[in-house]
Amino acid sequence: MKALVLSGGSGTRLRPLSYSMPKQLVPVGNVPVLFHCLDNLRDADITDVGIVVGDRGDDIRRAVGDGSAHGLRVTYIQQEAPLGLAHCVQISEPFLGREDFVMYLGDNVLVGGVAAHAERFRADCPDAQLLVAKVADPAEYGIAVLGADGSVERLVEKPSEPVGDTALIGVYFFTKEVHTAVRSIEPSARGELEITDAIEWLRRNGRQVRAEIFDGYWKDTGRIEDMLDCNRVLLGSLTPSQAGSVDAHSELIGSGPIVIEPGARIERSRIVGPVTIGAGTVVQDSTVGPCVSIGRNGLLEHAEVEDSIVMDGAAIRGVRGIHGSLIGRNTEVSQAPRFSHRHRLVVGDHSRIEAAA
Ligand code: TTP
Repeated sequence: MKALVLSGGSGTRLRPLSYSMPKQLVPVGNVPVLFHCLDNLRDADITDVGIVVGDRGDDIRRAVGDGSAHGLRVTYIQQEAPLGLAHCVQISEPFLGREDFVMYLGDNVLVGGVAAHAERFRADCPDAQLLVAKVADPAEYGIAVLGADGSVERLVEKPSEPVGDTALIGVYFFTKEVHTAVRSIEPSARGELEITDAIEWLRRNGRQVRAEIFDGYWKDTGRIEDMLDCNRVLLGSLTPSQAGSVDAHSELIGSGPIVIEPGARIERSRIVGPVTIGAGTVVQDSTVGPCVSIGRNGLLEHAEVEDSIVMDGAAIRGVRGIHGSLIGRNTEVSQAPRFSHRHRLVVGDHSRIEAAA
């Protein structure tokens, strides 16, 4: 079985971050979202992987290379525009050939992996095996209406009327039959070739389409709130380690694990786990955590940060009360001059700032 990992897309919901990096490379639990997916594939013994990339493909190529660091053999497939998930399957046919494959959305995180699902697909070989999970907001998802035996009776993309709450999550197993399906459908109203239409085509044409409930933690990290939620969960399961230095005036507390990478320095600070502090980062006179991951080579001075992702090279000086934030690479956050009630902002398009009055 091969894998097709989708790592193109527009990432409009993750602006402005997606202007400067592909959303699949945003770190959650200190590891890029995409790496969680690649490691799950390897754990399911699927090593021949095609990665569909868009206009940020060079960043993905640089981060993943030939895949050997993840125990994989990676082929890149360039998509000229984000024309839909079924379009990704169309352009990948030369790579996939006639083999069975799993299509995995590169911005989805499934804790616990997909090995058991892959095993059942290998054993039974239905034409499509979809992973589904209950969601609170069905209108945002493709919803599967299921029969008692797990067979899919109907698929409805972002339903306006309630039809159920069992949503397709970002992992689909297919046989070669899907290639006929993706060639037989037309673009949807939003101009994309939808994978739900291709699956509906399979079902209507008498192919076996079944669903399996994914019962672990799953997150589509398409929005900032989802990234932060995922970060909280993944930080909680890290193995604690302290390779960097912590001075005698600092304390490591809290109920979650704390990872201090090599070359990081913690001075006169409070670290409240779960927290990770990346290699080479300096934290002085600050409080960090809970639920914070700080990238490499950053600087925090007189700062207070909780429930946030701070990427490589960011510097935060003299600012307290930072929470629920996603701070990009090499960003500077600093205090306004004393007694100033004004704010100076240098931010990209579609940024979000919440300033105290
Ligand atoms: P989505 O999150 O559904 O789409 P998007 O990336 O365009 O995001 P937004 O809605 O915020 O604009 O895509 C799911 C995954 O599939 C994601 O990893 C991007 C990838 N993808 C492609 O590779 N090609 C495509 O044509 C599309 C639509 C998505």
